[in-house]
Amino acid sequence: MINLGVLVSGNGTNLQAIIDAMERGILDSKIGVVISNNPGAFAIERARRQNIPTEIVSNKTFTEKEDYDRRLVGILKDHSVDLVILAGFMRIITHVLINAFPMRIMNIHPALLPAFSGLNVQKKALEYGVKFSGATVHFVDEGIDTGPVIIQAVVPVYDDDTEETLAARILREEHRIYPQAIKLFAEGRLEVKGRRVTIKDSHRTEGSMANPEVTIFK
Ligand code: GRF
Repeated sequence: MINLGVLVSGNGTNLQAIIDAMERGILDSKIGVVISNNPGAFAIERARRQNIPTEIVSNKTFTEKEDYDRRLVGILKDHSVDLVILAGFMRIITHVLINAFPMRIMNIHPALLPAFSGLNVQKKALEYGVKFSGATVHFVDEGIDTGPVIIQAVVPVYDDDTEETLAARILREEHRIYPQAIKLFAEGRLEVKGRRVTIKDSHRTEGSMANPEVTIFK
């Protein structure tokens, strides 16, 4: 059973999705610690309700990013964490954390990387006028949202979408693919070769989608 360390900053709905999957017995892992840089993060309350150990490491604690990450590494190692999960964590992590957990840090991003990396990605997607967006779970490397992609989910973008309606549609998919990615890791089915992550015995997703719907050819 793998032991997760979850880093949070906000509401914690991805943390909650992981907790729910474990509670339902469909994800064979446990959460050793939840760490937040934000003392007011509701994600901490979600952890406390499950008696999961929590730690607050405030942004103000260290002036150097690397020192901040050394503190995180210490806490994660103290809790024997096997896999680090960034779940709405709003800090850029450094080589200190990445080197301590090589290809053992995952992040979720609310867009189809490499499209729309960075922040305000739903706004960027709407302004660009794409017809699909979605969510990406990837391993974290030293770039911003550049690590090897593990799993993606796609959602249609509608003409009357706002940032909020698109974000909510994407978030529902985040809550499906993040536990799935962790499960694949826990089962030892992820293999990283350079940029590519291959999945042993994966079920092929069939079919295709067009938005708007293609009515000419059936
Ligand atoms: C999510 O949209 C996630 O993609 C981004 O942070 C947002 C909030 O996540 N990284 P959560 O509700 O705190 O898990």
